Amino acid sequence: MDIFEYSRLSKKEIAKRIDKAKRNIGAVIIAHSYQRIEVQQIADIVGDSLELAREVVNTDAPIIVFCGVMFMAETAQIINPDKMVLIPEIQAGCPLAAHATAEDVIRMKGKYPGYKVVTYINSTAEVKSVSDIVCTSANSVKIVESFPKEQGIIFVPDKNLCAYTKRITGRENIVCWDGHCYVHDRITAQDILNARKMHPNTVIIAHPEVKIEVQELSDLIGSTSAMYRYVRDHPKQTVVLVTEYGLIQRINVEFPGTSVYPIYEHAICSNMKLITLEKVLRTLDEQIYEINIPDAIANRARVTIDRMLAIK
Ligand code: 13P
Ligand code: SF4
Repeated sequence: MDIFEYSRLSKKEIAKRIDKAKRNIGAVIIAHSYQRIEVQQIADIVGDSLELAREVVNTDAPIIVFCGVMFMAETAQIINPDKMVLIPEIQAGCPLAAHATAEDVIRMKGKYPGYKVVTYINSTAEVKSVSDIVCTSANSVKIVESFPKEQGIIFVPDKNLCAYTKRITGRENIVCWDGHCYVHDRITAQDILNARKMHPNTVIIAHPEVKIEVQELSDLIGSTSAMYRYVRDHPKQTVVLVTEYGLIQRINVEFPGTSVYPIYEHAICSNMKLITLEKVLRTLDEQIYEINIPDAIANRARVTIDRMLAIK
């Protein structure tokens, strides 16, 4: 069925058909917290990159529908080689991941012999396959600290997460890649000062993908799951979240009595929003788009993801 045909159906009808189609084919629907709120609401599991990577290892379902960006669906496929992994929109890439190619990383390794490559999960399967270990925004400090202090590290591809990890670990021998996320990196120090004026007595929590000066003006730095837990555990506290708007929508739905504000409502990852309810239903009906990664790349990338998952 053409995607425009699906658009003729009401949201309620699409959600009903998604539920039925999912049961028929035995699929589990996984969604990142930056997805459109209506997509999060039909998902079986919602979370951050690390939580979702851990969840997909545990699922019994033969088919995984991944509502997120391409590197997330690729990660699910790599660690579930015997399952079918589908992404509802093939164009949903992460521009941060596009900042590094495997060839670039190999060249960098040549410049820093003996250094280990720690790669943010927001990267292509090819880049993971030439790395030593993967990390997420929730565990970058722990992953770097799993190496001896004197070990040199190349950190790929987010410069802000790298700067944060360097600051927290106090390690100087980390070379930061020059990549960034267009959603987080454009948030300015002035935005934080404005938020403090607008919401006095607020706690400001920033994602580590924001610029270092924005991190310095914030009260806490954390991944999307850390932000979620903070609000859950401090329901009376006014909180401003310096991250993508989808997480704030999720929190406002799940914790209705709380005062949680976005840094601004235009902090939108348009790549994440490419996935719609209509496309999720089409994916279930037609089993598109299937993730296929060549074995040689997937096998090497799996080692780097498994190393991360083994560090609790
Ligand atoms: P989390 O790992 O915090 O979910 O973030 C993923 C991401 O894409 C941030 O922009
Ligand atoms: Fe990639 Fe940034 Fe979008 Fe996250 S918010 S998926 S890092 S572009």
